[in-house]
Amino acid sequence: MRKPIIAGNWKMYKTISQAIELANGLKRAFYDLDAEAIDIVLCPVFTALSEVNEVISGSPMQLGAQDVFWQQEGAFTGEVSPLMLKDVGCKYVIIGHSERRQYFGETNQTVNKKVKAALQNGLIPIMCVGETLKERQEEKTFEVLKDHIQNGLTGLTAQEVSDIVIAYEPVWAIGTGKNATSQQAQEAHQFIRKLLTEMFNKEIANNIRIQYGGSVKPDNIEEIMQQPDVDGALVGGASLKVDSFSDIVIRAMKVKVKK
Ligand code: 13P
Repeated sequence: MRKPIIAGNWKMYKTISQAIELANGLKRAFYDLDAEAIDIVLCPVFTALSEVNEVISGSPMQLGAQDVFWQQEGAFTGEVSPLMLKDVGCKYVIIGHSERRQYFGETNQTVNKKVKAALQNGLIPIMCVGETLKERQEEKTFEVLKDHIQNGLTGLTAQEVSDIVIAYEPVWAIGTGKNATSQQAQEAHQFIRKLLTEMFNKEIANNIRIQYGGSVKPDNIEEIMQQPDVDGALVGGASLKVDSFSDIVIRAMKVKVKK
């Protein structure tokens, strides 16, 4: 059984005081939640990591970052290393988000280096993959997913990838209010799991968690989570408010966590 995982990608929102307020609100909302049943990950901006970590310690929530560099330390102005993310309390790190691919020159090669560096430092990568609208219209979705996954995970052993999380985020569904249908999500997730079986083995593929991301809201999370290959969600806009994010987590649990 794969443990469901809901992560909030706060993107470039929230000052430190706003981040503390949101984390405190979520802590109250999840005070009696069973941390064994579901993983909840908050991914604030770098500047708020330390404070958010302090707020959520002892709660069922865990800390994640939104990007990482692949070197441990050095003259790399502006970058943050995996060692530093561990140091501040991160357990997870988002790698290869489409916004980084689109605006900051992230490629499969840099994603691969980051995934390896994260794993070597005991961080769990949430590796993002997904097609643009144009690629979907040209029926290249599977081709793009194959490219992102094969190249993003190249050089890694089955053992090494066993803990990673993959986020399927169709670019056309991000921040547009137009989520993928549950069938579209399932089709992509199923394809990814089959690909992981071919690249590694069935057991590993069955254990790797695949999240859906793109306009996830309280009113569509249940349908999406009902799909057999959907193990969670990577939530952007709806993770910035206590009510919507906690509602998403509770609804996801209702679908996936059997009492
Ligand atoms: P939205 O939920 O705002 O569409 O963002 C999705 C996303 O990019 C999460 O990483």
